[in-house]
Amino acid sequence: MLIKRTGDLKTSEITPEHLYLNRRDFIRGASAAGIGLASSLVFPDSARSDDRWPRGKKGPYDSDEEVNTFKDITTYNNFYEFGVDKSDPAANSAGFQPKPWTVRIDGDVKKPATYNLEDFIKPYKLEDRIYRMRCVEGWSMVIPWRGFPLSDLLKKVEPTSRAKFVTFETVYRPAQMPGQKQRFLEWPYIEGLRMDEALNPLTLLAVGLYGKDLPTQNGAPLRLVTPWKYGFKGIKSIVKINFTDKEPRTTWNISAPGEYGFYSNVNPEVDHPRWSQKSERRIGEFFKRKTLMFNGYADQVASMYAGMDLRKNF
Ligand code: MTE
Repeated sequence: MLIKRTGDLKTSEITPEHLYLNRRDFIRGASAAGIGLASSLVFPDSARSDDRWPRGKKGPYDSDEEVNTFKDITTYNNFYEFGVDKSDPAANSAGFQPKPWTVRIDGDVKKPATYNLEDFIKPYKLEDRIYRMRCVEGWSMVIPWRGFPLSDLLKKVEPTSRAKFVTFETVYRPAQMPGQKQRFLEWPYIEGLRMDEALNPLTLLAVGLYGKDLPTQNGAPLRLVTPWKYGFKGIKSIVKINFTDKEPRTTWNISAPGEYGFYSNVNPEVDHPRWSQKSERRIGEFFKRKTLMFNGYADQVASMYAGMDLRKNF
C-alpha cells in the first residue's frame, strides 16, 4: 500500500489476470453494460453459483449485494506480515498457528484480563453479516463475516470514564510471519477507534467468514471489521485490546501521516494522494462503480462525525 509508488505497480496488481480471463465475469460485465447477455441465459445456475454465500438481505446490517467468492476473499489480501503482494498472505501463511491464542484486555478498563480465545469468545452470540468492504487502493469486496459486535465486549469489560479510545495490536511472531523480518511497516501492526466508533453497532470483532473460522490470510483467529472505513483499519490477528484517553498512533499513520489519517472513513470527496476515491473496482467485476460516502453506511455512522471537517480529519 505505502511502499509502492504508482509507477512501480505491476499490471497484475491493477487488474489481476484472472479478471481478464474469467469468462463468467466478462459475461456479467457485458450484461451490466447493457450488451444484453444476461448471464443466467448463458450459464445454468450450477455453473455460476460456485461457492457463493447465498444472496439476499437477511439481517438489518446485511448488504443485499452479491458476495464475493470464498476464493476471491481468501486469495486477494493485504496482510504485510506475510508479504506485500496480494497473493503473499495465502501463499506464506501456512506455518502460522492461530491456536492456542490469547487476548489481553488492558488500560482504562474495570476488568482487565488475559483470556484464551475460546473463553474470550464464549459469552457472545456469533452472527453472520454481509458487509461491503472498500480498500483505500480502490478495490472492494462484499464479505459474509462471522463475529460479534465489539460493543458486546465493551459492556462486559467496562471501560472507565477515562477511556476515550480503544487500540488494537496484532501478534508479533517473526518466526511464523516472514514479513515481520523486514521493515515494510513498524511491527506490531496497531490500530485504534474512538470510543463511539467502537460502540457503533456495525463494528465487529470477526472470528470467521463464509460460516467458517477465519483463514489465516484474513486475520485468524480474531480481527476488527469497520465497514464504513478503509480496509486498513481492519486489523488482523489481534492479541491486545487497550483502552486509553489519548488518540493512538496507528501503523499506516506512523508510516505516512500525510496519506493515512486516524479516521480513514471512506469518502469519495477526499482523494488519497495517489488514488482517487471516487470510484472502485469490485473484485470479480469488469466495470468500476461509484464509491459511496461512508461506503454506503452513512445512515448508521454519519452522525458520529457531525460538525467535523472531514478533509482535515481524513
Ligand atoms: N492487519 C495487519 N495486522 N496487517 C496488515 O497488513 N492490512 C490491512 C487490513 N488489516 C493489514 C491488516 C489492509 S491494508 C486491508 S485492505 C485489510 O486488512 C485487508 O483485509 P482482507 O485481506 O481480509 O481483505
